[in-house]
Formats: sequence, C-alpha cells, structure tokens
Amino acid sequence: MIIPEPYRIKAVEPIRLIPRPEREIKLRQAHYNLFNLRSEDVFIDLLTDSGTGAMSDCQWAGLMRGDEAYAGSRSYYNLESSCRDVFGHRYFVPAHQGRGAENVLFPLLIKPGQMVIGNMHFDTTRAHIELKGGQAVDCVVPEAYDTSDGHPFKGNVDINRLEGLIDRNGPQKVAFLLVTVTCNSAGGQPVSLSNLRQVRRVADKYNLPLFLDAARFAENAYFIKKREQGCEAKSIREIVREMFSLADGFTMSAKKDGLVNIGGLIGIKENRDLYNRVRANLVPIEGFPTYGGLAGRDMEALALGLQEVVEESYLQARVGQVEYLGKRLLDAGIPIQQPVGGHAVFVDAGKFLPHIPYRQFPGQALAIDLYLEAGVRAVEIGSFLLGRDPATGVQIRSPLEFLRLTIPRRVYTNSHMDYVAESLAAVHRRRDKVRGVRIVEEPEVLRHFTARLDLL
Ligand SMILES: Cc1ncc(COP(=O)(O)O)c(C=O)c1O
Repeated sequence: MIIPEPYRIKAVEPIRLIPRPEREIKLRQAHYNLFNLRSEDVFIDLLTDSGTGAMSDCQWAGLMRGDEAYAGSRSYYNLESSCRDVFGHRYFVPAHQGRGAENVLFPLLIKPGQMVIGNMHFDTTRAHIELKGGQAVDCVVPEAYDTSDGHPFKGNVDINRLEGLIDRNGPQKVAFLLVTVTCNSAGGQPVSLSNLRQVRRVADKYNLPLFLDAARFAENAYFIKKREQGCEAKSIREIVREMFSLADGFTMSAKKDGLVNIGGLIGIKENRDLYNRVRANLVPIEGFPTYGGLAGRDMEALALGLQEVVEESYLQARVGQVEYLGKRLLDAGIPIQQPVGGHAVFVDAGKFLPHIPYRQFPGQALAIDLYLEAGVRAVEIGSFLLGRDPATGVQIRSPLEFLRLTIPRRVYTNSHMDYVAESLAAVHRRRDKVRGVRIVEEPEVLRHFTARLDLL
C-alpha cells in the first residue's frame, strides 16, 4: 500500500524547463560544468541535498520568533535544549555550517603528522584534517566499493583493518576516530549500531576519542531501524540516543538532517575541558558561543528541524522517495549503487557508459547529457571530483565513477522522480552515443567547482 508524505503543500515555487536549444547554449556558456549554471536554467535540481530542503510552517514561524541578541539569545537556549533532547550530549555550540564546525574542532584534536581514521571522509572534512597537518585515512568495508553488493551497511568501518592500522602505526600516531553517518562518499550508506559499538571498543582499547560526522544522523537511524536485527522495535529517538552515546562528540552540517538551509553544530558528550577550548576557538572563527555564525532565527529553525527530522513518518517518506527513484531506474535497466542510500541515488556511470574511460569522466559526461535531455542537474562523483596526484600531476582513477542524483528534503514529488527516471532511461537507450569530456582549464585545488570542460 502507498503511504503518502505526512505533510501537504502550503507554498509553491514555480520552476521552468527552458527549451533544448537554450539548454545547449547555457551549457556551452557554463563550459560544460554544471556548477556554473544559473539555477533558473535548471528544471529539477539534484545537485545536492545540502541546504536545499523545504522548511515546515513551524520553522517559518520560528524565524519570526528568532532572538537576535548577540549574547544569551533565547534562540540559542532553545537550540541547546533541542540538541540535548535529541542527542543526549551535554555541550553544544552552533557553527555557520559543517566545515565551520570542523575548522573549530579539528585543530584542538590533531597534532601534525597524526592520522584521523574513519569510514570514508567527506571532502571538506578531509581538507580540514589535512590543513591541520593530519592525514585522513579511509577504512570502510570493502563491500562499499562493489555497487551490486547488497550489504545493508556499506558505510561500516572495517574493524580488522582499523585495528591493524592502529597497531602498525601506534595509537600515538592517531588523533581520533571519525565515523560519518550516513557515509556520504560511499553513496549515503548507513553504519550499523553494532559496527559503532565495535569502533567504540577499539577506541577504548587504544584510548582514542571517537567522533561522529553526523550530517545525516536521522537517515542513518532509520536504516538501523529497518535493517538491523534487534532494532525493529526501537524508536528513531532511541536509536539516535544510542548512536551518540557511543561517541565522545560530533560535528554536524545542519544543512542536511537539521532541515535548515544553513547551520552547523559541534557536540561534546561530557568533556568540559574540550568544550571550553572549543568555545574559546569558536570566537575568532565563527563568533560568540551563543550564535556561532548563525542568526537567532537560524538557530530557532534548527531547534525545530532537529525535532521534526526524528519523526519516523517523515523519514519513511524521505528515504522512501530515494528508494522509489532507485527502483524506477533499476526497472529501466540502469546500474545503480545498491541498496540505495539515504539522500541520493548513485548511478554507476562506469557501467552505464563502458565506452568512456575514466580520463574522459563518464560521470560528468552523463551529467551533461541528462541536463541536455531534460534540464535535470546532477553531479559527478568520480575521477573528475578526485583530481590529480599533487606530487605527479597525474589524473587519479576513482574506484567508482558515479552520477549522483541527490534529493532535496521535502521539495520534489514522486512525479518529479518519474520524470527524472524517464529522462535517464531515454539517455540509457542511446547510451553508446554519449560522448566523453576533456578538461580545458582547471584550478589547482577543488577543480570540480570551477574547471572548464569541452565535449570530445
Ligand atoms: C558528511 C559530510 N560532512 C561534512 C560536510 C560539510 O558540511 P557543509 O557543507 O555544511 O560545510 C558535508 C557536506 O556535504 C557532508 O556531507
């Protein structure tokens, strides 16, 4: 039986499909890099789920109640009590977004040369670890690299490898462990509670702190409820509390499961000394601890978003919509990362376009073709994103070439998903005609956002 979304629509934002000849011009003007397109030239925007969600009527009302005091804002205390209620940690500070939180916390934990080991670090997280002189090490289970393997928790940490790494290097060479829930870089794949418990055991054995990168914590909890034996009867709130009870603290981009358009958090379970150092470091970077780079109204909306995101009916609709798109694509014979993750469907562009080698970026070629076909914007997660070896300048080959169709929260309906699926199926039927791309101009770092490309 179909279970519809647990909300109805109160305000709409018109979108427009510009004609194909115009799309061709816009794409040429954007140098075949979809980050350079204007959003008004995009019909359905699946570039990211970050900050692109729709707020509820309560959150919009909350904006009006925001207290804009520099110090001691009521909205800060509302946020603090909402955080304590959901996560169970004692201390919190806001930040303007996830990378702001990383920038404040990481220098307090990393000494130059130390490793930060996790399942798979997100790119800004990796960058912040490296900026502090650390080394970001991925240690995800091998199933994450096989798109057709149906493992229910492909975001899990490979425990044997983790222990091996710590044993070989010595625990003093490790700053902390960082588990990303869900694991964005592995395709929004969840981490099980039993795996988190095992990581906790390893952390205790070697006396290392364990942090969560918690951008999609609620989606992770939903997968635990649906897929992990023994968790079916637990509520989402109970699972969230259990996940966070295993960690010493967390950073979070609230632009995802905070259900807000901007915001971030640092949480610390009980270490008062670390909390004091975080507060001190926050001031010159993000701002005074009772606003941390956010307006009072942003904190008010986030306090409410954290309560809404742990509603099971919301999560069922949210994850259900991503699954729905995945199923439509599978029915059309399109290869995708299975099972589908929480926030996006990852199309296996390497398998979709076997005639395009990694040096010609199959994920980017597919993104270009999908925009031309239907005005849908998606994003490449593969060799184009990965870039070049900084020492040799040689293009690195990504183990997976993905086109990510990222679904904003509470924004599109399933008829939008049908349109996306039918458009990609049309590209699939003529896939041997899709052309690879070459880079014409690229900056040295994070080229993905600004490089100029051309069709081959
Ligand atoms: C897992 C993860 N960590 C950190 C970040 C960085 O957060 P922000 O974009 O809010 O700076 C992101 C953003 O996509 C993310 O997905």
